[in-house]
Amino acid sequence: MATDMESQLQTLAESAQKAIATADSLQKLEELRVSYLGKKGELSLILKEMGKLSAEDRPRIGAVANEIKNEIQINLVDRQNKLQQAEINQKILAETLDVTMPGVSYSLGKSHPLQSTIDRVIDIFVGLGYTIAEGPQIEGDYYNFTALNTPEDHPARDMQDTFYFEDGNLLRTHTSSVQIRYMEKNEPPLRIIAPGRVYRRDTVDATHSAVFHQIEILAIDKGLTFTDLKGTIKEFLRQMFGDDLPTLFRGSYFPFTEPSAEVDVQWQGKWLEVLGCGMVDPNVLKAVGYDPEVYSGFAAGLGVERFAMILHKIDDIRRLYNSDLRFLQQF
Ligand code: DAH
Repeated sequence: MATDMESQLQTLAESAQKAIATADSLQKLEELRVSYLGKKGELSLILKEMGKLSAEDRPRIGAVANEIKNEIQINLVDRQNKLQQAEINQKILAETLDVTMPGVSYSLGKSHPLQSTIDRVIDIFVGLGYTIAEGPQIEGDYYNFTALNTPEDHPARDMQDTFYFEDGNLLRTHTSSVQIRYMEKNEPPLRIIAPGRVYRRDTVDATHSAVFHQIEILAIDKGLTFTDLKGTIKEFLRQMFGDDLPTLFRGSYFPFTEPSAEVDVQWQGKWLEVLGCGMVDPNVLKAVGYDPEVYSGFAAGLGVERFAMILHKIDDIRRLYNSDLRFLQQF
């Protein structure tokens, strides 16, 4: 009986040692503690039989049982320490910042070259005291033509092939319509810049698009002259091209200005036509109820695509519209 129990205890000690040594989590370790040393654990089960032992065997077997209990307890604590240390090491490793790892890079959105061109022009004119104005893209014939001194039978209407709606409205062919809209609602003096989208029945090619962008400039005050127009345009071009380049004011014709001019700028050895301008025609002032005997002013209109293409050496206007990232990422 006594040797039986002794060998049971030895077997228990061996299996406990093995199980504890290979326990791979604190939770498993706790389960082992309960199954070996718990109230209903294996050791207790064996010790229940102690009563059946003879009086001389009892203390000896009891001593062996105690030793095994201590051993198991020591093994448990030992293994617990090891597992806790391993957990800490794991945590330290996981939280270490490897500064040699390549970083995660996020690509930033950027302004489209058309928008950044518009923004540059706006910045320059805002610096000269101008405020931004806007008008609708679907316009009445009156705002796009008639009030701009271009009555129905006027040959200048052929200069701008127009998209018409069935109700007689149209897609504005230029931002000059904003001049009328703004002057109708405001009294002089005024200085405005009006950027926006315009439409013409043009066949699309490397330099033409049916939809494009213009920026309109308008200044009305007492005593404004062609000198003010020239000074303003020259200052604008100086800031736009970052240099005091030679400019040429060529006499031209627009129905809504008199006199009218087209402006060329000499850039990188070539004369480039960059905008149209002129003194606001008295008929335009009359159309909005301003007295042309008291007020005068100047206006100018420029094509955004043209400026963007000149400044960035873009060879085809269509590149500005087809959203090719290989192109857009260059700006
Ligand atoms: N509206 C003209 C066009 O689209 C451009 C223009 C010329 C605007 C002269 C003006 C101006 O304000 O004075 O061709």
